Amino acid sequence: MKALKFENGDTMPNLGLGTWLSDKGEVHDAVLEAIKIGYRHIDCAHIYKNEQEIGEALAKAFKDGLVKREEMWITSKLWNNAHKKEKVWPAFETSLEHLQLDYLDLYLIHWPLVLEDDVEFPTKGSDFVPLSEVPLIETWETLETIHQKGLARHIGVSNFNSNHLNELLQKAKTKPELNQIELHPFLPQNKLTRFCKDNGILLTAYGPLGAAYRIKMEGLDLPVLMEAEAVKDLAEKHQATPAQIVLRWGIQKGFAVIPKSTNPKRIKENFGAWSLQLDEEDMAKLDQLEGPYRFTTGNVWTPEDGPYKQEDLWE
Ligand code: A2P
Repeated sequence: MKALKFENGDTMPNLGLGTWLSDKGEVHDAVLEAIKIGYRHIDCAHIYKNEQEIGEALAKAFKDGLVKREEMWITSKLWNNAHKKEKVWPAFETSLEHLQLDYLDLYLIHWPLVLEDDVEFPTKGSDFVPLSEVPLIETWETLETIHQKGLARHIGVSNFNSNHLNELLQKAKTKPELNQIELHPFLPQNKLTRFCKDNGILLTAYGPLGAAYRIKMEGLDLPVLMEAEAVKDLAEKHQATPAQIVLRWGIQKGFAVIPKSTNPKRIKENFGAWSLQLDEEDMAKLDQLEGPYRFTTGNVWTPEDGPYKQEDLWE
């Protein structure tokens, strides 16, 4: 299986290129390299601040005949300071313009929380707007209009738990079709993934390699997934790499995986996860790993004097 199927029959490749922390000056070539290797799914977001460069790479790929637009799956995400009704359209149009596209395949609400208009990242509680003032359904209604107009073929969310999803499921005309969350063998999120599956919501795994760079970035005292004994043993058994093993776990769980890399060798290596097959015993070994370990802590969203709490964020 190489794709996830939406209810209208559209398919999204279940292995894509992640672009968070892909530096300017590197991401252009990374996207072209990925397309040459065979990637047909690129995961983007306004806040990654590299959509312009990705747009240039896509335009070149289409112009040079490497791939056709309709063969690519391009996702982008609405940032937290653009949830207000009048802000959603301009934010969406900026992403389209930067990516040099006339439609997106998938547009997501990046986080279930709201920042003041002029705040990109919060430093204090007053930088936030509570959901009681700008409810998720209000933001979602504009995504529904974008979808109805055909400018985003599919719409969904990211970092939503079942409470956030329930709010939309109860009030929305179009249900969220996909939830993009942190998922890897150290954080299988069984309860939330079950909820999504039961409600026909597809899942994309971010940080599918175990997001080890977060350990440094957030000063976490957590183990490295790709160095876990079970992962290394399976890599040896399958003559594969640890990265391929953990990506394959995600694919066989029924998720789409979007490993980020700007390194041509690793971009190719990660693509190799498509040609592996883990058996039940292998999967069970990975399911039995210790944890859960969450690398995206969300601490930045939950200062003591702000309206959002850790228990509101995670399942
Ligand atoms: P780099 O861009 O230098 O390759 P995730 O997608 O789970 O968030 O992980 C992305 C991180 O993992 C990046 O730091 C990336 O660095 C690194 N990475 C990507 N592919 C591999 C790989 N095959 N083996 C080891 N590290 C990898």
